[in-house]
Amino acid sequence: MSADLQTQFDALIDADERIEPRDWMPDAYRKTLIRQIAQHAHSEIIGMQPEGNWITRAPSLKRKAILMAKVQDEAGHGLYLYGAAETLGVDRAELLDLLHTRKQKYSSIFNYPTISWADVGAIGWLVDGAAITNQVPLCRCSYGPYARAMIRICKEESFHQRQGFEILLTLSNGTPAQRGLAQDAVNRWWWPSLMMFGPPDADSPNSAQSMAWGIKRFSNDELRQKFVDMTVPQAGVLGLTLPDPELRFDEETGHHHFGEIDWTEFYQVVKGNGPCNEQRLRHRVRAHEEGAWVGEAAAAYAAKQASREGVAVA
Ligand SMILES: [Fe+2]
Ligand SMILES: [Fe+2]
Repeated sequence: MSADLQTQFDALIDADERIEPRDWMPDAYRKTLIRQIAQHAHSEIIGMQPEGNWITRAPSLKRKAILMAKVQDEAGHGLYLYGAAETLGVDRAELLDLLHTRKQKYSSIFNYPTISWADVGAIGWLVDGAAITNQVPLCRCSYGPYARAMIRICKEESFHQRQGFEILLTLSNGTPAQRGLAQDAVNRWWWPSLMMFGPPDADSPNSAQSMAWGIKRFSNDELRQKFVDMTVPQAGVLGLTLPDPELRFDEETGHHHFGEIDWTEFYQVVKGNGPCNEQRLRHRVRAHEEGAWVGEAAAAYAAKQASREGVAVA
């Protein structure tokens, strides 16, 4: 019986069809997806903080409105993804609990501070840009609900990337001080953005299984290279430099060669020792606790409506 189910599952994967919540799936496949989707959802909502930091200080009403919409989009991405995770039989409250107790992680990029307005531009351009590179292939992920959530998310992410680029372009063409802010932000966000693709393939033992299951379509290093190749010409248009003396186009490979990433820094931030890890988590837990009454009120209201309907039916 179980062998039949496994055969059916393998056939769906081999045919590049989607696995749906009603389908049987191996336990390890389910667990991998829950971990990945939850981590992705956590990243979306924690990612609201570094940019939310600038909503009250955006340089114009228009910039403020755009940034508020963007931060709200990220909340929406979190909702789609928690919804997708729930189709695998976990509860959203349970996942948030795992985030708050540090048993599940979120993307380390959000543990860096946003110290100037230009950081909002650099995040949009580089961080959302790296996210898109990672996420476009996830639109073809073998798990249906995750793939469908990613299609909606990617449409919004590409808009985020362009708004970040436009902020930097404006600053870059502004006063020398504004241009300096843009360059400084790019200098600080470039390397952490490259780290967003995860450790080198050789140190990423679970990647092969995820590729075999059709969850992952490209390796970490392939995605990182794609991102560098896409971003270097854009930096040229911005008139900004990328902080890597080794960066050059390699005629032979047709790709941009880039310098060694500081993986010690990466693992330090993953372990919780980044500049803002504590602050981000503390803020998240506080927001959760202070907002608990909203959920309680909604549940009480729903229960009241249901009991009234029950009376009417009786
Ligand atoms: Fe997002
Ligand atoms: Fe985004």
